[in-house]
This record gives sequence, C-alpha cells and structure tokens, in this order.
Amino acid sequence: MIYGIGTDICDVRRIRASFERHGERFARKILSDGELDTWKARGTRWPDRGVSYLATRFSAKEAFSKAIGLGMRLPMTWRHCEIANAAAGRPEIVLHGTLKAWFEARHLTAFVTVTDETDYAASFVVVERGRFPG
Ligand SMILES: CC(C)(COP(=O)(O)OP(=O)(O)OC[C@H]1O[C@@H](n2cnc3c(N)ncnc32)[C@H](O)[C@@H]1OP(=O)(O)O)[C@@H](O)C(=O)NCCC(=O)NCCS
Repeated sequence: MIYGIGTDICDVRRIRASFERHGERFARKILSDGELDTWKARGTRWPDRGVSYLATRFSAKEAFSKAIGLGMRLPMTWRHCEIANAAAGRPEIVLHGTLKAWFEARHLTAFVTVTDETDYAASFVVVERGRFPG
C-alpha cells in the first residue's frame, strides 16, 4: 500500500553558488558520512560531478521528506537520510538515527529515482507501508 509520494526539482546553479559561498561546510550539512566519501572521490577528480552529486542528493532528500509527509522537520534531517548506491548503481535510501527508528516503527519502505541535466536535478520517491524488503 502506498504511504506517500514525493518529488523535487533542484537548480544546480543554486547548489553551485551555495557551495562556492560556504565550501565543504555546505556539503557537510547536506551529506551523510557515507555520501561525503563518495562526494569527495567524485568532486576531487571532476568538480562539476561533485556539484551534480550534491544537487541530486539535495533533491532526493527533499523528495523523501515529502513522501513521508514531514518536510524538513524532525526526525527528518539531511544527514540522517542517505542516498546510497546499490549494485549496478541503482540509488537506494539508507536511514540513520531517529529517522530510521521512526520509519521502521511504521513498517515503511522507500524507493527513489534521481536524474540530472546541466542546470537541474530532480528526484521522485515512493514510500510503501507493510512491505517487507527481501
Ligand atoms: C517540504 C519542503 C521540503 C518543500 O520544499 P521547498 O523547496 O520549499 O518547496 P517545493 O516547491 O519543492 O515544494 C513545495 C510543495 O511541497 C509540498 N509540501 C509541503 N509540505 C509538505 C509536507 N510536510 N509533506 C509533503 N509535501 C509537502 C506542498 O505541496 C508544497 O507546494 P504548495 O505549497 O504549493 O502546496 C519544505 O517544507 C521544507 O521543509 N523545506 C526546507 C528546505 C530547506 O531547509 N532548505 C534549505 C536550503 S539550503
């Protein structure tokens, strides 16, 4: 049964401007520890890919916050919602801390897809209830 859906479009130029203004502090606010490692690996070699990575994570987290119906309000936080990559590169949502506990107590499962072009990144999230991953 579908619990919620969420979508978000993010202007990559806005993310680039925030990154240029605040540097790594901006990335540390948005990204989980696992995402930070991936961001550093991508961004060191290709700075534009680092900005795209930040933008897709930003949009996916906002889309997830809408799908669960909280918006960016506790227990939803940027760093407790991680967009990891499963085998073959498929994105998947991995939660941490109080957000993970909140989500599991409701027997929820999330599915996410992301896309980006030069100037925009977009994401779509579906959250199901009562489905057991496996
Ligand atoms: C839900 C939230 C993420 C919306 O993000 P936004 O970027 O401001 O706005 P968007 O245009 O992407 O989305 C707005 C839509 O989200 C939906 N929305 C709002 N609150 C929602 C909630 N709790 N659950 C699900 N959807 C929600 C509404 O449909 C809204 O459109 P409407 O006001 O016309 O009805 C916002 O409430 C929020 O918490 N934003 C925090 C963002 C932030 O901290 N940014 C920092 C930038 S560095």
